[in-house]
Amino acid sequence: MTISRRTFLQCSAALGGAFALGTGLSARARATPEPQILTAQLAEAQIAADGISPVMTYGHGDGPHAGMPPILRMRKGETFAARLVNRLDEPTTVHWHGLRITNAMDGVPEMTQRYVYPGDHFDYVFTPPDAGTFWYHPHCNTLTQMGRGLTGVLVVEHPKDPVFDAEIVLNLRDWRLGAGGKFIDTFKPRDAARGGTYGTLRTANWQREPTYDAPAGGLVRVRIVATDVTRIYTIGLVGADAKVIALDGNPVERPFVLDRIDLGPGQRIDLALRMPESESARVALGNFRGSHPWTIAGFRSVGASLKRDLGDLTPLPANPVAEADLSTAKRIPIDLTATAEHQATPSICGSLGYTFWALNKVPWSGDTPDPVAPIEELKLGRSYVLEIANRTPHAHPIHLHGLSFRILSSNKRSFLPPPTDTILLLPDEQAELALAADNPGDWVIHCHIIEHQKTGMTGYFKIV
Ligand code: C2O
Ligand code: CU
Repeated sequence: MTISRRTFLQCSAALGGAFALGTGLSARARATPEPQILTAQLAEAQIAADGISPVMTYGHGDGPHAGMPPILRMRKGETFAARLVNRLDEPTTVHWHGLRITNAMDGVPEMTQRYVYPGDHFDYVFTPPDAGTFWYHPHCNTLTQMGRGLTGVLVVEHPKDPVFDAEIVLNLRDWRLGAGGKFIDTFKPRDAARGGTYGTLRTANWQREPTYDAPAGGLVRVRIVATDVTRIYTIGLVGADAKVIALDGNPVERPFVLDRIDLGPGQRIDLALRMPESESARVALGNFRGSHPWTIAGFRSVGASLKRDLGDLTPLPANPVAEADLSTAKRIPIDLTATAEHQATPSICGSLGYTFWALNKVPWSGDTPDPVAPIEELKLGRSYVLEIANRTPHAHPIHLHGLSFRILSSNKRSFLPPPTDTILLLPDEQAELALAADNPGDWVIHCHIIEHQKTGMTGYFKIV
């Protein structure tokens, strides 16, 4: 029996509605579990060599030694609950980057929920429909809150995930620290108007060039997440073979050998790494962007060889992302441009005080009470093609909340990745992005170089 694309779309739209209402799920999925407590708090951490930094974290430890945000693990199709407790001295929220969940759980202040003020809490309950590597972060005063540490990795497991000998999760980010580990200005306006302001110190899992032990000859799943507010990485591996098995949470159609691959803020890469045979062999994960490559993290083989082979791995199960119906899809142009510099309006969630960027000529920083019109109102169940054009000489990682899209074509790339929530648009790139509007609500689209987002490169779609 064949099922037409249109029927498939209608079915999946109906399914999206069922998710939203909490019906049609298995009994296990329906029972709401005890919420995990996620406390946003001030803490201290040794990031720089020469001092302690006053960070912000969701770390589980108490008081000043809370540690970095935990890796949150959940299972595809099972309800997850977390209570955000705000012990910062400013409002915050949590956004679950890449999860196609109910709009009310999306974490965007004013648009999908109220601000969570200091001392207050907010209960998030949702059921992740896709398995893979995702992450979570605030959507309020984001440059400061993320810059100070509030970025964590989120793993959605699938019962049919292939079995690895080890898993290593890498949260990649920089810090803007000066002497003694003190934070310096979060950004420089002249850089915000260009590629963004870089940190002064680079880390993986809050450590400078950490090394992880893994079984010799074993297969390791490496989940790499770029949570930095600015840096675009070009990832490569020295000393072992690895295959790219998923990008931005979705399995690649055919795993391919890792050579060099770009990773913009917000994006993820899942690798199947085959550790060297011999004990104590070293593997380096490097950043090859720019003229001075450097090591992000290392892996060291331990024990007798497990003699595994990359060919042993079963494929990752596919995620149920609906394909757009291209025969009926409506086309929507989206232009990324610089805009005349002017003062931005202040906001409860912080303002950088400048406007440099715009989507379709409208500069908007989001996370504010000042309303703008949606880029377009989308009809639930219909398909769309975004004709997105980067009319700037800078790369922009453009992220859409609540939906995944497929890159249909681009004037700058030959390899087209699986469906994604974030496309790293290259300078002057023009691409067609196809999506099925199967999740109702107001969904933000913005550049994930946070200075660009907060100085105007933000908009939203309304799906009704
Ligand atoms: Cu990581 Cu608005 O997103
Ligand atoms: Cu940008």
